[in-house]
Amino acid sequence: MSYYDEAESRLKTLQRRGEATVLSIETSCDETAAAVVKNGRQVLSNAVYTQIPIHRKFGGVVPELASRNHVDQVGPVVESALEDAGMTLRDIDAIAVTGGPGLVGALLVGVSYAKGLAFATGKPLVNTHHILGHIAANYLTFPDLVPPFTCLVASGGHSHIIEVADYDRCVLIGRTRDDAAGEAYDKVARVLELPYPGGPELEKLAAQGDPHAVRFHSAFNEGEGFDMSFSGLKTAVINYLQNAKQRGETVNRADVAASFQFAVNSILSDKAVRAAVENGHGTLALAGGVSANKNLRQMLDQKAQKRGIRFCCPDFKYCTDNGAMIGSAGFYLLMAGHISDLSFNAVPYLPIA
Ligand code: KG4
Ligand code: ZN
Repeated sequence: MSYYDEAESRLKTLQRRGEATVLSIETSCDETAAAVVKNGRQVLSNAVYTQIPIHRKFGGVVPELASRNHVDQVGPVVESALEDAGMTLRDIDAIAVTGGPGLVGALLVGVSYAKGLAFATGKPLVNTHHILGHIAANYLTFPDLVPPFTCLVASGGHSHIIEVADYDRCVLIGRTRDDAAGEAYDKVARVLELPYPGGPELEKLAAQGDPHAVRFHSAFNEGEGFDMSFSGLKTAVINYLQNAKQRGETVNRADVAASFQFAVNSILSDKAVRAAVENGHGTLALAGGVSANKNLRQMLDQKAQKRGIRFCCPDFKYCTDNGAMIGSAGFYLLMAGHISDLSFNAVPYLPIA
């Protein structure tokens, strides 16, 4: 029997049962991650090896270094995930892997490894979208959360407002026209001389500042549409710092950080809550690395509550890249029959809708 025929016959059994234990692999950027997740909701293990210390000295992710470190780490991380779950490959029903979007060399490491495991075991392989994974981080945190709902995805590579119509079906409502929110956080953090990754460092500095000290504003975001733009805010911060330097004035960096954070988070939260209202959704979820930002979580919670909308955001350990979120998204794709043969490739730019 060919690999695909065997995988398809196993898929049918799993769909009949409605149950599956999924081994997931995520290597889209600078985290080598693997997890074992049961039925899309129960995390049996979640192993993450972060490359942040390696990239920090360069002020950002160096793609070639990321790929090489994934090659070194993917085997041990998968082994840890299985060991922590008290399982072997025999106990696993299917394998899910992030196929995109992300850094192509980094993605290829996980995809090749997952294909090898699938071929060796004959188990179904699920090519999983990274953003679907971030959204699914909410299923791990809220057992009762089911589509449809509105989701704001804000990460280093994406800022999307999405209608999650079903586990395997998303409609893009709005997106950034330029920088992603996390990217803007990282770039502004760099001009404030904070280490990489800048988002969490900027949040710490902002906690000591006044969010209303400086008004960083961007006209584009005042429209009624759901698209967003963050590069203007980043330029406004750079201009503010340069003007102050030319005038010989000292700048309160914490005030700048707090004011920038307030501006970005106001745009994200206003647009996302309005999208949920217009979609007629009773629930708004947050996902992606920037969902770890406490100020954003609070703003969304308050604004959603005022409109009678339930707000969900992932547990902190599932906010930034991890394997468990891919295991959850992979389970639902599996149940809907989305399995792959061994010919698919990693795709760096992969639309969600
Ligand atoms: O989802 P993620 O781990 O990787 C991508 O898929 O991009 O997101 C990483 C991004 C980085 O830009 C990082 O600075 C940002 O999320 N981030 C934060 C915080 N924690 C992570 N941004 C603002 N505040 C945070 N606490
Ligand atoms: Zn991510």
